[in-house]
Amino acid sequence: MDVLIHLFVGLHIIGIAALLGGFLSQMTALKQGTARITKGMLHGALTMLVTGVALVGLNQAQDYSIDNIKIGVKLAILIVVLGIVYVKRDDEKVDKGLLMAVGGLTMANIFIAVLWT
Ligand code: HEM
Repeated sequence: MDVLIHLFVGLHIIGIAALLGGFLSQMTALKQGTARITKGMLHGALTMLVTGVALVGLNQAQDYSIDNIKIGVKLAILIVVLGIVYVKRDDEKVDKGLLMAVGGLTMANIFIAVLWT
């Protein structure tokens, strides 16, 4: 089962790459006012949700302790990100503030994951 947990942590990290990489790929477009939500960002956010929930289940199945408050905060932040990228997925361009919120909240979740012990 441990190998499955590690596998899902790997998939969780691939999700971060898609979400954060999608945000970073829009930096030049952001300066030109043409930044948009890319498909990779939406798929990355969905991957975070699916793999995150799977990780909770797999850890609980092994009786490993999970910090429910930390996971709850990460989930709440991801739901905001998911809401933005889902609603704005077809817009030709997106407000700077919304795009920065997606990038900033994703980075916040990364630091919550690694610093909240
Ligand atoms: C943008 C959103 C998210 C980011 C950037 C993120 C980031 C990370 C990172 C970097 C790790 C590996 C480091 C570690 O083990 O501490 C991790 C682990 C984990 N994540 Fe996430 N995560 C996100 C969303 C979620 C969500 C929504 C859930 C659950 C519903 C979740 C549940 C977990 C669990 C259970 C682990 C492994 C156990 C732990 O260390 O807490 N994550 N996450």
